[in-house]
Amino acid sequence: MSFIAQAENVTKDYPVGQVMVPALRGVSLAIEPGEFVSIVGASGSGKSTLLHILGGLTPPTTGRVWIEGVEYGSISDAGRTALRRKSIGIVFQKFNLLPTLDARGNIEIAREIAGRRAHPSDGDAAHMQRLIELLGIGNRLDHRPTQLSGGEQQRVAIARALINQPRLLLADEPTGNLDSKNSDAVLGVMAELNRTLGQTILMITHNVAAAAIGHRTLHMRDGLIVPA
Ligand SMILES: Nc1ncnc2c1ncn2[C@@H]1O[C@H](COP(=O)(O)OP(=O)(O)O)[C@@H](O)[C@H]1O
Ligand SMILES: [Mg+2]
Repeated sequence: MSFIAQAENVTKDYPVGQVMVPALRGVSLAIEPGEFVSIVGASGSGKSTLLHILGGLTPPTTGRVWIEGVEYGSISDAGRTALRRKSIGIVFQKFNLLPTLDARGNIEIAREIAGRRAHPSDGDAAHMQRLIELLGIGNRLDHRPTQLSGGEQQRVAIARALINQPRLLLADEPTGNLDSKNSDAVLGVMAELNRTLGQTILMITHNVAAAAIGHRTLHMRDGLIVPA
């Protein structure tokens, strides 16, 4: 079995003043292609730290992480950046769209940052069209973020995260800033992306009902994955 993401005995300590605060205390997990995994846990339990480490945004203090079989610790900073850009898309609670670009511009800029062709191939264009349809944002593409609802902004942010066809989508409380209607829409879209594109997803939520749309749920407490 080749996993999309794997973590082995990952710890993370943050220096705070003179002391080290343990955010992760030995986390292991493995995510298979096509899985939709949810992570729940109280605030401060280490969920975001784990996601940042899996996403290659921050290194673990100890332990190892593999993405598509490549261990972050075994490659250079440049290699890590390249692996992250190729394999991982990330969605955060705050959508972080660029205010001066319309929705289409916000999505396409991710393709440019990844160094893809300025003129998209037919395959890229077809993928963009598929995402737009799945996410239901076709009639919002020429709107700027301030003209969009929170749920629409998050769906644009999801399209941006997926435009380069990453194998793994990491989402850190993607519905945390949304009302229940928009939250339901975004969760529905996540399930649909998994079902129709086979998108592998790891989603953090502190809402147990939201977690239930995934195939399985990991529970975190005090920097560890614990039994439900
Ligand atoms: N950059 C940081 N510096 C110091 N402590 C941090 C930092 N980021 C997170 N922490 C601490 O690590 C622990 C886990 O935080 P976090 O991963 O953000 O948890 P969660 O996402 O579950 O709320 C908390 O005690 C938090 O205060
Ligand atoms: Mg968090």
